[in-house]
Amino acid sequence: MPAASPIQDTFGRSMRDLRISITDRCNFNCLYCLPENEEAANFYRKRADPGNAKPIKYSWKPKSHFLTYEEIIHITRLLAAGGIDKVRITGGEPLLRRNVERLIEGLAAIPGIADIALTTNGFLFPRHAEALRRAGLNRITISLDSLQPDSFRQITGRDGLELVHESLSLAHKLGYSPIKVNAVIIRGINDHELEDLAEFGREQNVAMRFIEFMPLDSKRSWQKEHVVTKREMLERLEKRFELIPKPGNNPAETAKRWTFADGTGEIGIIAPVSEPFCGNCNRIRLTADGNMRTCLFSLHEHDLKTALRDGATDDDLTQRLREIILTKEERHHIGEQDFVQPARTMSFIGG
Ligand code: 5AD
Ligand code: SF4
Repeated sequence: MPAASPIQDTFGRSMRDLRISITDRCNFNCLYCLPENEEAANFYRKRADPGNAKPIKYSWKPKSHFLTYEEIIHITRLLAAGGIDKVRITGGEPLLRRNVERLIEGLAAIPGIADIALTTNGFLFPRHAEALRRAGLNRITISLDSLQPDSFRQITGRDGLELVHESLSLAHKLGYSPIKVNAVIIRGINDHELEDLAEFGREQNVAMRFIEFMPLDSKRSWQKEHVVTKREMLERLEKRFELIPKPGNNPAETAKRWTFADGTGEIGIIAPVSEPFCGNCNRIRLTADGNMRTCLFSLHEHDLKTALRDGATDDDLTQRLREIILTKEERHHIGEQDFVQPARTMSFIGG
């Protein structure tokens, strides 16, 4: 395919990174994402009254509502011709979908796609780790918000801590690199484990990613007070560890990173709330049901599935993709008066 010009938005940002959600189902109910369990309800009741904000309702959808792997690969191929070189598979929980390795294989074969990653809650990963690795997956991000079984269950709604540990050791054994661990830090829930999680990351040789809690939960219960800011996390971590900043070589990177004084290990803090990184954003998202999202916080989505299924040519689809990206928002408005939480939550959009 001849090299096309890079796909850019109106702010001159070239798109490089495609996040693909392949299902909006999940086998967890993380209280920062799908706070459907009783523990989550109690937590939010105690701390905040979401007023008359409407919770998001879920309904069952037929299989045809979702893109097939072939359709996802098709769209990715068109985007790769316009400069996308990095893909992350997310969900919901992506491993709830069958044969994800088939999708990975298809994506890995696209010219220009240099990097494929997957974000999982780790529950089903041990069953699929080997096949995924064989299919060409090299990077993995696993969510782990607590090292204590009770608190793990309180946050995710499942007894899954052991499986997450198993996932991490298997990922090492199979040569996944880098292995990242996401922890969303929420005041009053797991903020007291910050230092222990950092220590755990160092011992286990995984790159920790501490993430500020974002208003993307299905009950719309997010409150500013729940957010532990990057500054607060760093102050606390620096009391326990000597941290040396790692210079970033990619301005679009979401995490600010540090290494420990002996040069081993890495922690990163992702601060979308207190220090937005929209200025260098090169990410676009494809939802499981075939809509493009130009921002995590977009209030509008762009349907691609209809055109794809109505037999649009590749040129038409590419043109449509370019037009969509021209609508990419300059930045999000979290914490501002005019902020409106998007209708879809993280479980639909993926990280
Ligand atoms: N705020 C911040 N991060 C979130 N994630 C999910 N929901 C939220 C939220 N409300 C992160 C989790 C998960 C990844 C897919 O997205 O860390 O690993
Ligand atoms: Fe599921 Fe991930 Fe949402 Fe947790 S954060 S409920 S694992 S989709």
